[in-house]
Amino acid sequence: VIAVAGLDSVEEALERALASDVSLLSGAASQLVLSGGKRLRPKTVLLAHEAAGGEDRSQAVRFATIVELVHTASLIHDDINDRSGMRRGEETVNARWGDGLALLTGDFVFVRMLSLLAGLDSRVLDLLSNACQCIVEGEALEVLSLGDTAMSEEGYLDIVSRKTASLFAVCAESGGVLAGASEERIGALRSYGLNLGIAFQIRDDTLDLVGQVDDLGKPVASDLAQGKMSLATICALSASSAADEILSSADRLGVVEMLQDSGALSYALQKAEQYADSAKDSLSVLPPSGARAALRGMADFAVARVR
Ligand code: FPP
Ligand code: MG
Repeated sequence: VIAVAGLDSVEEALERALASDVSLLSGAASQLVLSGGKRLRPKTVLLAHEAAGGEDRSQAVRFATIVELVHTASLIHDDINDRSGMRRGEETVNARWGDGLALLTGDFVFVRMLSLLAGLDSRVLDLLSNACQCIVEGEALEVLSLGDTAMSEEGYLDIVSRKTASLFAVCAESGGVLAGASEERIGALRSYGLNLGIAFQIRDDTLDLVGQVDDLGKPVASDLAQGKMSLATICALSASSAADEILSSADRLGVVEMLQDSGALSYALQKAEQYADSAKDSLSVLPPSGARAALRGMADFAVARVR
């Protein structure tokens, strides 16, 4: 766990943002926000800002708060879509209060985010709006492709780039913009975030297949149950005609064994590492600093993590 300057202020701003006299909304939203998220997106903003030589941290703190709220809103809605009962070791909002109130809690978090936009740098605002569009498009493409055993690796990467990596890219890019960095450095940070986000989601999808509930704090094997494709399953399906039957069986250990024996799992993990390496390589145009080292460390964490 890396200490990141400015993160305390983000935590305070998150708590302030979620206050409401409709206590169900603030309670449900705060429960998730305070339930031990990794804060990778806010950290990406703050570290990118620092690594790019940013001095006044106030706008970066504000943007870091905004992206965590967007992320939180998307998780609440995602858990409705995925019919998921657990996140970060606690009951999901939909499991506890039902889909209707969960939908509204996600809306609440999103509209509270809007209250932080006034006065934000217009380029960053534009980036944020694009990323929000990408996230929704990515999630929609994913829902539309459930059960599509013919999905290609490109199709998967397109979904992942939109639903997850677009926000990471904007986190890193905006850190650079708010620091007043050169276009070269801003572009490098964007590339860092995009590659980090892809690595992170590939790892996330392998953890759904072979991770442990106790580490993850969310159900495992839920992607398979929903017919959600991932790099490992795409690879297994293209390698063997028997994979389809095994993947659609309820035999989780059999699935894990098949993914291991066929090399599909190591293929996915190796891809994740490649993206993490590209993320780290992108940082070479920035001067060495503690913040740059921490960004490199996050890329390593994204592919080594068990939670
Ligand atoms: C988690 O994926 C989900 C996302 C990265 C995006 C979800 C987006 C929406 C629900 C659209 C609404 C968007 C906004 C901005 C309000 P996952 O299911 O693979 O991860 P998980 O295993 O943690 O659930
Ligand atoms: Mg989900």
